[in-house]
Amino acid sequence: MCGIIGYTGSINAKKILLDGLSSLEYRGYDSAGVCFFNNKNNIEVIKSVGKVDNLKKLVEKNNSYTTCGMGHTRWATHGNVTNENAHPHSCSYVNIIHNGIIENYLSLIEEYNIKERKSDTDTEVAAIVLNKFYEETNHDPLISISKLMNTIKGTYAICIMFSDRPNEIFAIRKLNPLVATTTNIGSIIASDLTGIIPYSKNYILPPENSIVKLTPYDIRAYEYITLERMELQILQLNWSVDSAMKNGYPHYMLKEINEQPQALTNTIIPYIKNNIPDFSDIGIDDECLKSIDNIQIIACGTARHAGLVACSVFTPILKIPVNTFVASEYRYTEPYITEHTLVIPVSQSGETIDTLASLTLAKNLGAKILSIVNVKSSTIARSSDYCIYTNAGPEIAVASTKAYTVQIAALYLLLSKIAYLKNKMSLEELKDFINTLNAMPEVIKETISNDSVIKEVAKFLKFKNDCFYIGRLQDYISSLEGALKLKEISYIHTDAYAAGELKHGTIALITHDMPVIAIDTNENISSKLLSNVEEVKAREATIILIINENFKYKKDIAKHIIPIKNVDYRFAVFPVSVVTQLIAYYTSTERGLDVDKPRNLAKSVTVE
Ligand code: G6P
Repeated sequence: MCGIIGYTGSINAKKILLDGLSSLEYRGYDSAGVCFFNNKNNIEVIKSVGKVDNLKKLVEKNNSYTTCGMGHTRWATHGNVTNENAHPHSCSYVNIIHNGIIENYLSLIEEYNIKERKSDTDTEVAAIVLNKFYEETNHDPLISISKLMNTIKGTYAICIMFSDRPNEIFAIRKLNPLVATTTNIGSIIASDLTGIIPYSKNYILPPENSIVKLTPYDIRAYEYITLERMELQILQLNWSVDSAMKNGYPHYMLKEINEQPQALTNTIIPYIKNNIPDFSDIGIDDECLKSIDNIQIIACGTARHAGLVACSVFTPILKIPVNTFVASEYRYTEPYITEHTLVIPVSQSGETIDTLASLTLAKNLGAKILSIVNVKSSTIARSSDYCIYTNAGPEIAVASTKAYTVQIAALYLLLSKIAYLKNKMSLEELKDFINTLNAMPEVIKETISNDSVIKEVAKFLKFKNDCFYIGRLQDYISSLEGALKLKEISYIHTDAYAAGELKHGTIALITHDMPVIAIDTNENISSKLLSNVEEVKAREATIILIINENFKYKKDIAKHIIPIKNVDYRFAVFPVSVVTQLIAYYTSTERGLDVDKPRNLAKSVTVE
């Protein structure tokens, strides 16, 4: 949450900062700000409530030229959305932008007798304390930042400019991400790779225990206690600039929905050898996988739904406990873990703070950690014993789409291999399973091309205030994900229910004004689901039915029927997800909303 960009070099910094903020805006967008050295080496600060476009207009009116500055897009934690609370925060010599939470800011206010603050933020407190240290140490940036790191508690990625040190940017981080690069136009630092893709394919990850200093010529890191120089490892990025752009699509979300066939192929192929899953390249051997007797998947949001899908498919096959946990809850429990427990954190960004904290808890209790992550070298990937990368390329839209289907694919690859090693799946069954998985990119392509009924559904939903999704087993999990997608980008209150549970209360809410989207892809229980549909229809609900094209149903059972390809029910989640993603997408565009940046949300949740 919150996007950070900093640049010091030889060309116009305003453009780099504003372009960077636009590409990082998905991390938070309630207010934005920049500060920079003007050509007289004085600091100027410009802030604005609202999206980055508002800030752009103000920066365009400003005539100063600058080659060094930093910018921030905010997702409010401490303090309302106001200009005063927007970053950067300044105190005398110190200017700060921050992603994270300074947890001990209240005790710092007392301890350092801070009387006057311009904002309600924890960040300004850090700026005031750092300024005290800077003055006390006779303007020594490294010693004063080191003192700050020993004083503040919490998680943070912070960039600092001292008013009397033009062309220099300092950065520190604890848990929250930062990446940086030096090119022939100068040095750039950002919250994530989308901020630096246009400038370089090489990057470094500032180590947690370091103070990083950017100048126009290089980036140096100093161990934060000894202040000795540290080696920085240069990493290579395999994303292209195009992959982080809209490429002609009106929204990132639609682009990312359409990228799913390719993303799935990119996820599956690297982990297949001789037609079956193989994880030797990531260092985990078959004996280790075979010895697993308890699997715990931990994740948040859409990634958690991917875990639930995998549990529901593999618990009956593996016949060992396979559970998915909400990471923000798991981290405060006492999980049962033995040396044969495999913990699988699932995360697109690899930075979600609760997933990371759960990982750390499980690791300390002795679990093996095999994460499923999209962003290379992210904190979760680096903190795990093993990591399966999903290779979906950057996902920019806040509502997750391609990351979800590739997470399911990665879980299917891993769990089917464990089932095979434990003799719960024969070689033939495993090969059949993988063949079906390999067919999903084509199934998804076909689903995307048949979107005419979905557009009709969106026109109908546009005027509704509430909506229900219902389904059974995997279709219930698809309902959870469908409801999350619809509510987060269309703002229509949407809930998902296990269809059989309706009669235990929820059916009281069914009226003629309530759309019910029912999902029916499992032949074994189709008749049960269709009975539930009849029950809500009898109470005048308007039905939208997503159903396997081969199933039998009364033609007038629903106002809209969306047939999906006849696939094994364990794989129906792939086409169904695409349908529910498109329902959410078109409903949001029908309502004229900001699809890619829904209110109050952020893509990467790096605060608890
Ligand atoms: C946020 C995003 C969701 C995502 C969740 C978990 O809520 O908006 O799309 O599913 O975080 O993020 P992760 O990066 O850990 O998958």
